[in-house]
Amino acid sequence: MKISPVLLNLFFLTCFCAIKAKIVNKNVERSLDLSSQLVKSTIKITAEDTTGKPLKEYVLILNEPNLSYISVTDGSKNEIQARKSNGGLQYVITFGSSSAHQIILVETVSTKNIMPYPEEIKQHEIQFAKYVGLVHLYSNYETYSQKTIVKLGTSNILSHTQVKPFSTATDKLIFGPYENIKALSKQELVIHYENQTPFMTVKNLERTIEVSHWGNIAIQESIQLAHSGAKLKGSFSRYDFQKDGRSSQSAIKSYRTILPSSASGVYYRDTNGNISTSNMNSLNDFIDLELRPRFPLFGGWKTQYTIGYNVPSYEYMYSNGKKYQLKMHLIDHIYDNMAIDKAAIKIVLPEGADNIQLTTPYTINRRQNELVHTYLDTVGRPVISFSKLNLVESHIADFTLNYTFSRVSLLQEPFLVSGFIYIIFVLTIVLLRLDFSIALHSHKD
Ligand SMILES: *[C@@H]1O[C@H](CO)[C@@H](O)[C@H](O)[C@H]1NC(C)=O
Ligand SMILES: *[C@@H]1O[C@H](CO)[C@@H](O)[C@H](O)[C@H]1NC(C)=O
Ligand SMILES: *[C@@H]1O[C@H](CO)[C@@H](O)[C@H](O)[C@H]1NC(C)=O
Repeated sequence: MKISPVLLNLFFLTCFCAIKAKIVNKNVERSLDLSSQLVKSTIKITAEDTTGKPLKEYVLILNEPNLSYISVTDGSKNEIQARKSNGGLQYVITFGSSSAHQIILVETVSTKNIMPYPEEIKQHEIQFAKYVGLVHLYSNYETYSQKTIVKLGTSNILSHTQVKPFSTATDKLIFGPYENIKALSKQELVIHYENQTPFMTVKNLERTIEVSHWGNIAIQESIQLAHSGAKLKGSFSRYDFQKDGRSSQSAIKSYRTILPSSASGVYYRDTNGNISTSNMNSLNDFIDLELRPRFPLFGGWKTQYTIGYNVPSYEYMYSNGKKYQLKMHLIDHIYDNMAIDKAAIKIVLPEGADNIQLTTPYTINRRQNELVHTYLDTVGRPVISFSKLNLVESHIADFTLNYTFSRVSLLQEPFLVSGFIYIIFVLTIVLLRLDFSIALHSHKD
């Protein structure tokens, strides 16, 4: 029997097509920055389909607990298509270009993964922290070669997992290069090191943006701040604190908040009243505010304060006839390497604002719109509110809020005021007349 060459060809072609994609990580370069209270990681993955076919889809496992922020880009920093699957535990990445190998750049920030250890220290003691993670990238695929550089910001390392080869540099630990790591390898990485950066956590942020069509936007932030580092053991001695500035390094003495450059009327007060701002530097494109709580904040201690300012609306609002658009930071910089457990944002629009549409740079929990009444309001001002958990600096991005507003509404309040004054005026005249006649009567008597 003779098989025709065409048939043979067809047979091989079908065979070839049926070969499943075999994806591997050719190379993984990880860098972990553990020098603050946050875990910042950058992972560069060079993935390949070893069958030589174009790599179409790659599944990235999100193994980072308390993940706050993630960005997935290609080698040239262009965002790539990624959708969450498996209940948010995976990202399915689809590639636009057809190539057998692709570069994936993943950047993540997570909170609460560096814990003070020991959990309690005395005033003069050094704060140490423990990080628990994984030696290798947790991946669905086999990895041919992998290296991890861990930045600690200190050379004072008490202990760390030792998987050869590894080496230490001044303030770094270098793990690898490791070869031929099996898929789903889950070897634990523990590093115990000095970390004296202030572990500051905003337990709760309430940010209110009040828009007036008279040229002003008022911003107020109510902040509950806690030192989430090693708790202070024993009592606090102000004498020791002032005598030796180098001890109590992990305590929060002051920090920098950044405000928009056009901010005016800045105030800062805690429950006891005004606090004069220690230092306010107007730089070119922002205002640098150095805030100093009334007392240094030690581990486990809390404080609460309110900060507020005004900005001119022309910098944030655009209008076209009846259409308005407000574009502003959803949250702003409170301190470097900040961690916000919960933020609640409220935007108060002028009375009569309608057809409100909110667009946010990331998902948020939207609440129902409400109406608030302040003096002189008739129907009330629309309030848009939403919240989000676990935010970091990477979340400083603009929301846009579209709405319609007719200028006639703007005249409502002045009309109310003048109407009110008019009524008082008439009443006064009437009363004066009455009083006058009474006075006349009394004279007659
Ligand atoms: C953060 O992650 C740790 C470890 O997985 C977990 O125990 C803790 O509950 C998480 N914290 C929050 C606020 O989710
Ligand atoms: C707070 O500061 C503002 C502005 O500096 C001032 O007008 C006000 O009187 C102060 N209030 C108190 C209670 O000190
Ligand atoms: C908001 O308004 C702008 C400008 O008119 C428009 O380009 C944009 O699509 C609007 N957004 C929404 C969500 O309607």
